[in-house]
Amino acid sequence: MTSNRSDDGGLSQPPPEHIEERPVTNAARLLMGGPVVIVTTTYKGQQNAMPLAWCAPLSGDPPLIGIAIEQSRYSAEMVSHAEEFALNFPSRLLLHHVQYLGSLTGSDIDKFEATQMETFGARRINAPLIDGCVAWVECEVKQVIPIGDHLLFVGLPVSVQVDPESFDANWTVDEPESRPLHFVGGNHYSTLDGILEARIPGRGEAPERILAERIEEELELTTEARERREELMGKLEREIEQGNVIDVSKVALDDLPDLPDVPRIVVPERNEE
Ligand SMILES: Cc1cc2nc3c(=O)[nH]c(=O)nc-3n(C[C@H](O)[C@H](O)[C@H](O)COP(=O)(O)O)c2cc1C
Repeated sequence: MTSNRSDDGGLSQPPPEHIEERPVTNAARLLMGGPVVIVTTTYKGQQNAMPLAWCAPLSGDPPLIGIAIEQSRYSAEMVSHAEEFALNFPSRLLLHHVQYLGSLTGSDIDKFEATQMETFGARRINAPLIDGCVAWVECEVKQVIPIGDHLLFVGLPVSVQVDPESFDANWTVDEPESRPLHFVGGNHYSTLDGILEARIPGRGEAPERILAERIEEELELTTEARERREELMGKLEREIEQGNVIDVSKVALDDLPDLPDVPRIVVPERNEE
């Protein structure tokens, strides 16, 4: 990467050619990527669940978090009255539930009845917690702030529970089924790919040189991984063309490219070695 630093801090430099301008509404889209949560509430004996992506930490001490709910949603009314809510962090196992829950409104339908999701009792509040999630946060509402067409509910967490397979001090990003789900827009979701460890320049090292070297290093690592994947994809496609049976159990799951639905791909029983 070449440096385009100038005396005015780069302000007079034109933007790089490959970047595109987008509508300002894309700002919210860009901020997506944190774990999606399912907000659960109980009010007047009725329970409800809505997926929510607009969620953020707001303060460390006291530990406040914010959830933004569009004013017309049934959940906005329920949380306003209940003055408490729970965040349930789904993993990929609940991918389709999440999308479905977002297509219904609790004002028309009992979403728990419709989905038959298993629940258990919260520790400190009166909302159902969803089984099969990987973490749960119970909150008391401390403030409700109208912002544009949304209500920002500022919640004080009063109980946090996690599945330690998924989260120790941070997300473990271990087994694929225990990773949180991230909403990227539409009906598309993602999961974290792995842990990357950042290393900063040491004392006495020239930061710009070390950082430029680190970019080269990361580029090499990502290119290498892509090449490995492409090579494997080519090999698998050749096998399929030749009509061979492929033992997918010998291929690391993360390395598997998206393959067309080919009936000849079989997954034989794994021999315990
Ligand atoms: C992945 C996902 C994320 C969503 N995030 C939000 C959000 O942050 N805020 C919001 O108001 N609605 C959000 N929605 C839409 C609501 O979940 C949806 O309108 C839901 O049906 C509302 O349910 P309710 O009427 O029972 O409250 C999201 C939907 C999906 C599928």
